[in-house]
Amino acid sequence: MTKIIAIASDSSVFCGLNRRRLVALHNTRGMAYKTIIEPFKIKSVEPIHMTTEEQRMRYMTEAHFNPFLLRAQQVLIDFLTDSGTSAMSSEQWAGILRGDESYAGAVSWERLRDEIEDLTTYPFILPTHQGRAAERILYGYIGGAGKTFISNTHFDTTRANIEFGGAVAIDIPCEEAKDHDSDFPFKGNMNVERLEQIIQEAKPENVGAVILTVTNNTGGGQPVSMANARAVAAVCRKYGVLYIIDCCRIAENSYFIRQKEEGYKDVAYRKIAQEMFALADGCIMSAKKDALVNIGGFLALRNEQLAEACTNLLIITEGFSTYGGLSGRDMEAMAIGLREVFEDDYLNYRIKSTSYLGEGIRAKGIPVIYPIGGHAVYVDAGALYRHIPPQQYPGQTLVCELYKKGGIRAVEIGSVMFGKYDTEGKLVPAPMELVRLAIPRRVYTQSHIDYVIEVFDEIVSNKTQTRGMKIIKEPKFLRHFTAHFEQL
Ligand code: F0G
Repeated sequence: MTKIIAIASDSSVFCGLNRRRLVALHNTRGMAYKTIIEPFKIKSVEPIHMTTEEQRMRYMTEAHFNPFLLRAQQVLIDFLTDSGTSAMSSEQWAGILRGDESYAGAVSWERLRDEIEDLTTYPFILPTHQGRAAERILYGYIGGAGKTFISNTHFDTTRANIEFGGAVAIDIPCEEAKDHDSDFPFKGNMNVERLEQIIQEAKPENVGAVILTVTNNTGGGQPVSMANARAVAAVCRKYGVLYIIDCCRIAENSYFIRQKEEGYKDVAYRKIAQEMFALADGCIMSAKKDALVNIGGFLALRNEQLAEACTNLLIITEGFSTYGGLSGRDMEAMAIGLREVFEDDYLNYRIKSTSYLGEGIRAKGIPVIYPIGGHAVYVDAGALYRHIPPQQYPGQTLVCELYKKGGIRAVEIGSVMFGKYDTEGKLVPAPMELVRLAIPRRVYTQSHIDYVIEVFDEIVSNKTQTRGMKIIKEPKFLRHFTAHFEQL
């Protein structure tokens, strides 16, 4: 029997090895180091359209130097998001055919409901078409003016749904998250001391919910420890405050707990997730991530009255309570994905390929948020292009360079996305100039990732000659999606 066991996360070990030996394969009869292989065979393929740098320069100019405006066919490796971009398994496709499309009480709904209840331990389950629909329902109902929500870091749609209702959203990542180079293993943690202070200041009855985002996407895809989830639970219980887990990457989080937290070495990934869910009062999931589907989500709750109120909103805005915003076939695929995502071989491959990319570009001197998180590698473009000030958008510059040199599409998370203008029209930059390389699940092979690492060689050698960008046209809100740029 062959089992994948070792992680070479130590970068010195990594640098000394052939990159293909990042992961060790061990058979029970002795140690043997072999190339990691994807734990699947490819049954159906989708072509990638090869392009030259010259063509890409033309496409980029036509897209006004904004990769959101590119056609997907013009992209070689699409790292825009890990959301809804998973490849489904043959089992999931078989489930699609089995999907029961009855309006009420479909078998596919029963299957999904039982799967979620078993996983989360919550008895009231509301299916939605994606994560933000669940957010709108729950935070719309419990939020509103005068309410405060507290999170390790709210994802943008979470914050938007909370603020849209007039409530306030406060982020309290742990102190260790500020040091991007240290190897502290759980930089996704919440600052529990601050949590207690904020609850006291706001008064417990005004706190809408405490939301633990696992892994912490906006905070660099960093994991949250079980100890932290437990400490947050204790504070929530002490003050009688609702505790919700934003669980869209909980399987990836469980991987880190098993590898890095004491006492979990021999615990199954699914059991680790179950233990975390049991600490909270409910969860919101965008199934487009760790349920390995292209669309879907749910809200699951422990409290019956709250679930009833939310179900009324579900029926008005999404659909009847046994399908929400989904078809029977979507629910069938989701139920299967929620099981597959906790398989040892899958999670091992998944997290290793993310760290393989992160460690690979770090070894070339590219500054990244460290340790590498679960679903994405976050490059510090501000530190890479020290000669480009925030007003000339170093993150957007790197995003354009990656496309030009390699046809790679990534997303800027810096002053284009979060920058604001002061009263005199001067840019107030974002705290960091990051670029996220988010890796779709089960989509790319190691040679795709090797190719991306090679493209970074060119990024490094052109670094000092690379010039920044300026915005020439922008909308009032969410400008990163549609703004037009020019190269300086
Ligand atoms: N919560 C987190 C932590 C997320 O990362 C996302 C989506 C959502 C909620 C919303 O879910 O898209 O299904 O409505 N994140 C995607 C991303 C869009 O690219 O990180 P959704």
